[in-house]
Amino acid sequence: MKGIVFTEFLDMVETTISADAVDDVIEAARIPSGGAYTAVGTYDHKEMVSLVGALSEYSGQPMPDLLHQFGRHLFGRFVALYPVFFEGVEDALEFLARVEGVIHEEVLKLYPDAELPRFEARWTGPGALTLVYRSPRHMGDLAHGLIEGCVAHFGDPVSIRRQRLPDGAEEFLLARR
Ligand code: HEM
Repeated sequence: MKGIVFTEFLDMVETTISADAVDDVIEAARIPSGGAYTAVGTYDHKEMVSLVGALSEYSGQPMPDLLHQFGRHLFGRFVALYPVFFEGVEDALEFLARVEGVIHEEVLKLYPDAELPRFEARWTGPGALTLVYRSPRHMGDLAHGLIEGCVAHFGDPVSIRRQRLPDGAEEFLLARR
């Protein structure tokens, strides 16, 4: 997993709790890198699981809630860091339909070793989009938070329903209200 995901996670801990919390969480997570991440480096995604687990212990919040929160935070950072991906995109569903074929495609050009999930996007009606998420890293909670962050960013009211498919994939049913 790219270092940018880790640096943004630690940034969230620092801004929502404190710099001391960052040190405590890194220490408690006992991660091989020791928490010295650079944005362009690549680290074992299991370190993210360890960090979120340590933050959960520290804050008393369940891990899925923290991953949601992190997804929303991360989306806000993507808006600031990659404004070009937002040019000409009118709304949240249009943006989300482009994650696989345009956005992550461009991410792969920037970071050829990025480990990206698969998103299958299907329009099921006007204003209704189904996104199926598949990843060996099983970060459905993070995906959910990113989707929530995207909906919040564009500000259009979109309902999000999530269900697990028999093969373990996560399906997000998005509908403009
Ligand atoms: C401007 C928008 C976006 C950018 C720049 C972006 C970029 C990235 C980057 C750099 C990674 C890390 C790859 C790695 O660790 O090797 C990543 C992973 C990920 N992205 Fe995106 N992304 C964007 C939007 C989204 C959205 C909207 C979603 C959800 C629908 C999403 C879902 C994910 C998930 C869940 C991962 C974690 C890896 C996995 O699940 O296997 N991304 N993305």
